[in-house]
Amino acid sequence: MSKITVVGAGNVGATCANVLAVNETADEVLMLDVKNGLAEGKAIDMMQTAQLLGFDTVVSGYTNDYAATAGSDIIIITSGIPRKPGMTREELIEVNAGIVKTVAESALKYSPDAILIVISNPMDTMTYLAGKILGLPRNRVIGMGGALDSSRFKFYLSQALQCNANEVEGMVIGGHGDTTMIPLSRLATYKGIPCSTLLREEKMNEVVKATMVGGATLTGLLGTSAWYAPGAAGAYVAASVIRNQKKMLPCSVVLEGEYGMSDICIGVPVILGRNGIEQIVELQLNDREKQLFEESAAAVRTTNSVLKELQVL
Ligand code: LAC
Repeated sequence: MSKITVVGAGNVGATCANVLAVNETADEVLMLDVKNGLAEGKAIDMMQTAQLLGFDTVVSGYTNDYAATAGSDIIIITSGIPRKPGMTREELIEVNAGIVKTVAESALKYSPDAILIVISNPMDTMTYLAGKILGLPRNRVIGMGGALDSSRFKFYLSQALQCNANEVEGMVIGGHGDTTMIPLSRLATYKGIPCSTLLREEKMNEVVKATMVGGATLTGLLGTSAWYAPGAAGAYVAASVIRNQKKMLPCSVVLEGEYGMSDICIGVPVILGRNGIEQIVELQLNDREKQLFEESAAAVRTTNSVLKELQVL
């Protein structure tokens, strides 16, 4: 029996749980929320689609009852407040740090062997926080930002190329922030053909820019953070872990010397399997990419330093 818990049954958490259920990624998907009845209600609503959509995964919901989550293989943390238009992800730290800390501690108490996937923002810093306070080996703490940002990159590339997004390859490394993410345009391909030979430089720059502010653009349109792609990205990471798929995708992970860095969580390509992060892939970055990566890491470290000021670490 496989079991995945999604903490937070808001837009992102419920979308994530729904994708996990529809794809039958686990036998059991459990949602938890602090708001009375919310997780229960959404779970029942999802279960009433089971016959329509033909899935067998059992979805359940609980109000703040961590005992119900016991024995989860994976815990996905989506708790916290989302962005409002004009806000950066980093501005959410004051509220979300305390929430993520409590959630991570409570959930791991009942599922001491679980692999943690963090979606809450600021994502790199929340992943760093969860790893630090729980003292887990780094393979068990995964920030999903790069999976989301890479999907957005592929979407914008496919629009520019007027092609199918599933035939495009592209990765976004670095921090999950409007100015810190690094879409690797040099390595993006369409059916093996470098996109840089298919798109003019200014068009590629537009794609890169659109990717970086992808979340902010949606927050402007929706009045709150996006949820379909963030929820699906969390589910995608979870599927690669629980099904031992060995997929390579950028995720936020603790670096211990890779890319010349340590004591930081930041997006780099990793191989995901049943043990979580099974390998960190060290790309040969060029000088410009290295410089961007260093600037990105510096910004992530600045956000991490707020954890001490807030006394959550
Ligand atoms: C986004 C948020 C969830 O990028 O970080 O949409």
